[in-house]
Amino acid sequence: MMPVALGPAQAATMAALDRRIREDAWSATVYQTLASRPQTELWGMEHESGELVAMMVLAFGPWDAELELIGVATEWQGRGLGGQLLTLARQRLQQSRRERLLLEVRSNNRTARMLYERHGFRVDGCRRAYYEPSVPGGRREDALLMSLTLAASYSLL
Ligand SMILES: CC(C)(COP(=O)(O)OP(=O)(O)OC[C@H]1O[C@@H](n2cnc3c(N)ncnc32)[C@H](O)[C@@H]1OP(=O)(O)O)[C@@H](O)C(=O)NCCC(=O)NCCS
Repeated sequence: MMPVALGPAQAATMAALDRRIREDAWSATVYQTLASRPQTELWGMEHESGELVAMMVLAFGPWDAELELIGVATEWQGRGLGGQLLTLARQRLQQSRRERLLLEVRSNNRTARMLYERHGFRVDGCRRAYYEPSVPGGRREDALLMSLTLAASYSLL
């Protein structure tokens, strides 16, 4: 599967995939808004049947970019699609000459953390009790702040 750029026309499809992946999925309206922002890119992986099975949201600031979301449909996880999307994120960072790719991840999300570390992300910090509990009645969960630094593009001198 090759990554494809997604736009406002796919907002409902993205919201439907998000609902398959997590409890607090974004709505089609949120995806519509994201798709209309010039500083945001939405990328997906489509099965040959046309079904959207993975996606990511990248937001570009002046110097850095942020991975706002990456998700793979449950039955498609563990087959390299998340890794392919991260490789694309790195390429987009290089092409757009941003210095760092930033993200937040639940500290207990081992699969995602290991994937990010294998792709060169390092932990920079922790935001305590940042996320809603993942189980009813549970505790709020910490966010780890991670970043992938490509290169400093300017001299300190
Ligand atoms: C985190 C996530 C995006 C990773 O995507 P993925 O397509 O499963 O990732 P990959 O297959 O590229 O890599 C996952 C690694 O974990 C391993 N793995 C083993 N069992 C696995 C399983 N049940 N599910 C996922 N990965 C598994 C894979 O083998 C792979 O390791 P490898 O590259 O050494 O072989 C995906 O699991 C997901 O959408 N999770 C739910 C949403 C989420 O947590 N998003 C991140 C929030 S910050």
